[in-house]
Amino acid sequence: MNVDNPYGDPGHEIHEQGQKQVNISEIDPENLNDIAEYYKFEVDNSFSKLREGGTIDGQAKFRQGQMENGQLKVFTAKEGEELIGTSVVVLENAPGGTETMEKDIQNNEAFAAGTFIAKDKRSGETALRLAQEQERAAREAGKSSIITDIDRNNPASMRFRMNKNDYVLEGVNDETDEAIKYSYRFRKKFDQESQSADWTEQVRSGSIQKFNGEFGEKEVLIDPDDGEVIKQALEKGYRGVSLLNPERDFGDEESIDKNYVVFTKE
Ligand SMILES: CC(C)(COP(=O)(O)OP(=O)(O)OC[C@H]1O[C@@H](n2cnc3c(N)ncnc32)[C@H](O)[C@@H]1OP(=O)(O)O)[C@@H](O)C(=O)NCCC(=O)NCCS
Repeated sequence: MNVDNPYGDPGHEIHEQGQKQVNISEIDPENLNDIAEYYKFEVDNSFSKLREGGTIDGQAKFRQGQMENGQLKVFTAKEGEELIGTSVVVLENAPGGTETMEKDIQNNEAFAAGTFIAKDKRSGETALRLAQEQERAAREAGKSSIITDIDRNNPASMRFRMNKNDYVLEGVNDETDEAIKYSYRFRKKFDQESQSADWTEQVRSGSIQKFNGEFGEKEVLIDPDDGEVIKQALEKGYRGVSLLNPERDFGDEESIDKNYVVFTKE
């Protein structure tokens, strides 16, 4: 299926990226070559790992079975023949109930299980278009929300999900890998309105401040490295809605010195 223009909006038809058109499509579960190509792309870019003793063809066959069962869908982004991005959405457990790609989902949830864009192709619209496909597939499958987990040390992905896709940070997982330490659970509820606001302006004017040890205000800035404070904030009813980046949002101003997540509560 070609999903290059899913919304019928002419503005989505041609997407310039380095002057080249990017085509987004869903891999046909019958097309083992395309599945192997996507899998090899992720392995070559260290985004997926082969199982011990596994081969690309073997893993592609396994993935094909999952696709045929409706457990997941895979989307690709191509510039001409060149694969530049991939994205997976998990929709169901395996027959028998085993988790698909080790993603623990409820019946009404989908899991955005990984979007990868080749390094020199980032910062365009490709990631957004792939994420829109994940979301569309989840809605079509009758899900009420889509979730994902992002490591503490992946601010680009957090900013992408919160600021551009309206995902909300709602949970903390303790990770055994010391370098990662925490990952965060994000969710986009399909019946929930976007909580976007001009957070930058509010920080600039001083109405939103860094966490100072006490939760008093409706909004607060918390360092995404600080999983313990984020746990406390969530317990108090706050949810993360935006990742602010000093260079991108404040230029030369000195309002903030590093990445912060804006937490807000009802
Ligand atoms: C996550 C990913 C798919 C997003 O694609 P992308 O093309 O980089 O996405 P975008 O450029 O639209 O959004 C990323 C945002 O993070 C910002 N960003 C990048 N690095 C950052 C950093 N170190 N700190 C803060 N923000 C950062 C970008 O500036 C951009 O925001 P802006 O456009 O408002 O300035 C891509 O970065 C990627 O493939 N990463 C590696 C794989 C991965 O981690 N996948 C997700 C985990 S499953």
